[in-house]
This record gives sequence, structure tokens and C-alpha cells, in this order.
Amino acid sequence: MTLPVYRLHGCKENGSLVIFGHGFPFSHVMWDRMFKSMESIPSFLDRYTMVAPDFRSMGIVDRQDSVDSPVCSVTTMADLADDMAELADQFHARQFFYCGLSMGSYVGWEIWNRYPDRLKGLIIADSNAGADSPEAAANRIKTALRVEQELSCRFLADAMAGKLFSPETLALNENVVQEYKAMVVSNNYQGVAAVARGMAQRSNFTDRLPEIDVPALVIGGQRDILSPPSSMESISQSMPNARHVVIPYAGHLSPMESPTAFAVAVKSFLDSVA
Ligand code: MLT
Repeated sequence: MTLPVYRLHGCKENGSLVIFGHGFPFSHVMWDRMFKSMESIPSFLDRYTMVAPDFRSMGIVDRQDSVDSPVCSVTTMADLADDMAELADQFHARQFFYCGLSMGSYVGWEIWNRYPDRLKGLIIADSNAGADSPEAAANRIKTALRVEQELSCRFLADAMAGKLFSPETLALNENVVQEYKAMVVSNNYQGVAAVARGMAQRSNFTDRLPEIDVPALVIGGQRDILSPPSSMESISQSMPNARHVVIPYAGHLSPMESPTAFAVAVKSFLDSVA
């Protein structure tokens, strides 16, 4: 499958490949602010080729190359991991870094599971390593049905905003909240429904964290109530080769809320491994 890919402008062609996987129900747009910050950090663009795809059937609805999924389809985290490996092939990269936010990190665990030799480094942002409880999985199915019935992700944009952003962002950065809403509302509801079902059946990696010895950065917002710093610290402590960074005053969407702090932490990690 050829995925639409958004490459950081000015990026060196043959730098180490870094793939950024977005969260739910977002698209590559969630990385735009961070990419903008990276442009002003010396030697970022010289060393790395940074790409942010939209996951399968997600992203802007009227895009020519968007892939239609039949109603009730399922996109598993393993499917998305396979897509990311294929994407790295398209860049002729045998090994690559992968950075995933929340759902994007569920894909990261699966990349490690399925392609351990290809992963040069893993960035787990604002996420967890567990599986859904039966109740959470049932809610995912309801969410999938509702976006399919309404032919839109609009209700998710409103329902989730209060949980995703820090109080500081909500009070002081209305632009970020508006960008987030526009991104969610324009998302392809079919792809969103399919990954909601896929997340409901994802694997639990909690007990496997001690095996994940690839260099890792575990990073998240200080005010993230969905994946709080204490949970992120515990993930980092369980992984043999991980470090933990907290982004001050950010919530669950830390790369949108504090793009420069996020970009600096990513660069320092990449430089230490590449
Ligand atoms: C995300 O931001 O990707 C979601 O919070 C993930 C989830 O719903 O588990």
C-alpha cells in the first residue's frame, strides 16, 4: 500500500529515517507545529529524514488517494506496523526510528514485536502499554458505530477536547484547540472507525516491556490525564534502555501544545543513538 507521506521541508534525502505515527482520531497534521519548531533547531534537517504519514484510510476526507474502507472494517495495530515497515522500504531504509503518540505508540509496540531488527530507536509519547478492558473495548465499538452512522468524526472533536489539553493550553492557546478540532472534523470517518475497532483488540505489552531493549525515549505532557507522568515513568523504568522526559504544562497532545520542548527532546534522543 502506498501511504500519503508528509516530509519535513528541507530535510536531507539520505539522513536517518524517522517516522512519526499520529494518535486517535488525528492525522499527520498533529505533527505540523513540532516540524515547524524542528526547522529552527540547528543540524536537525541535516541528519534526519522525517516523515509523517496518515495511517491507513485516515486523514483528510476528500483526498484523491484516500482509501475507502467498507463499513465495519477493522485496522489492527499490527496492520499499521506492517504499513510503517513498508513505508521504510519506500525510503530504502533497512533500519528506522519510530515515534508514536498514544495510538501511534500502540503501533510502535507492534513494530518492535514484528520487526525488532529494523527498529533503531523508539519514542513512546503520551501513551500506555496495556490492552483495553472489556468495558473500554465495548466503548470503542460504540464509537466506531457512531462515526459510521453520523458519517463524521465531529462528535469526537467536541467530546475529547477537555481531556486532551492541559488547563494552560485550553486557557491560553485557543489556536491549538481550533487546529485540533479542524483536524478531527476533517478526518476520514471510515478509517477512524476501523482503527477504533483495531485498538479494542490490541495486545497487552506491559509484561513484555523488560524485553524491549531498543533505545527508547518515553515522553509525555506534565498535565496529561490520559497517560500521566507517573505511568510514563513506570513504562520507562520497565524498559532496559529507556529514558523519561516530561514536557512542562502540556497535556496529552504534547507535540502540539509544546512543540519546541518536544522537538528538543526528540533531537537529543536521536543524536544520542544515531
Ligand atoms: C490517542 O490519543 O491516540 C488516544 O488517546 C488513544 C486511545 O484512545 O487509547
